[in-house]
Amino acid sequence: MSRDHSIRRLERPDASLYRELRLEALRLHPHAYGSTLEMESAAPIDSFEQRLVSSEVLLGSIGDAPMGIVRFSMPTFVTERHKGMLTGMYVREGARGSGLASALVDAVIERARGRVIFVELSVVTTNERARRLYARHGFEIYGIDPCALKHGDRYFDEYQMTRFLDPPPGWTVPKPPSVAWR
Ligand SMILES: CC(C)(COP(=O)(O)OP(=O)(O)OC[C@H]1O[C@@H](n2cnc3c(N)ncnc32)[C@H](O)[C@@H]1OP(=O)(O)O)[C@@H](O)C(=O)NCCC(=O)NCCS
Repeated sequence: MSRDHSIRRLERPDASLYRELRLEALRLHPHAYGSTLEMESAAPIDSFEQRLVSSEVLLGSIGDAPMGIVRFSMPTFVTERHKGMLTGMYVREGARGSGLASALVDAVIERARGRVIFVELSVVTTNERARRLYARHGFEIYGIDPCALKHGDRYFDEYQMTRFLDPPPGWTVPKPPSVAWR
C-alpha cells in the first residue's frame, strides 16, 4: 500500500459520507451492483447508518480525500456465520490503478481472518477489471449465476467467487465443468 493510502471503518456519524460514495457508485456504474440509484437515493439516512452498524464498511482515502469503499458482512443465520461477504466495492476514478482497491480487498481479508472460513462475492461477468482485482487476491470462480441481475430490460450473469482463509481439511474449491477452464 502506498504511504498516502489509509483505510478506516466508517461509523454511524459517517453515514452522509457513506451515502455520498454509495450513490456515486450506483450512478456511475449502475450495472455493477445489485441495488439501484433510484432505490437507495430514496432511502432514509437511517438505512445507511444501519448498514454501518450491522456490517463493516471500510473507507479508503488518499491523503484526506475519501476515494473508495467496500463492505464486509456476515449472514445472520447461525448456520451461515462461518461465511464472509465482500460487497459494494467502489474506487473513485481518480484512485483507480493506485493500489487503493487492493488495499481495500486486503483490509476485508484481514478483518475476515479468524472469524469466517471464507469470503465470497459476486461480480458481473463483463466486469473484467473487478474480476481481475479479485483473482489477484486469490478469489476463485466456483459458479455462474445466470441472469443474476436485471437492470431495465437487460440481464446480467454473475460469477460467484470465493477466497478460502481456513479451508476444512482435505477440501478444495469445486470447479463446475462449465467454468473449469477459466
Ligand atoms: C473494480 C474497481 C474497484 C477496481 O479498482 P482499480 O483501481 O480499477 O483496480 P486495479 O487498478 O487493481 O485493476 C484491476 C485489474 O484490471 C486491469 N484493468 C485496468 N484497466 C482495465 C480496463 N479498462 N479493462 C479491463 N481491465 C483493466 C488491471 O490491469 C488489473 O488487472 P491485473 O490485476 O491482472 O493487473 C474499480 O475499477 C471500480 O470501482 N469500478 C467501478 C465499480 C465496480 O465495478 N465495482 C465492483 C463491483 S463487483
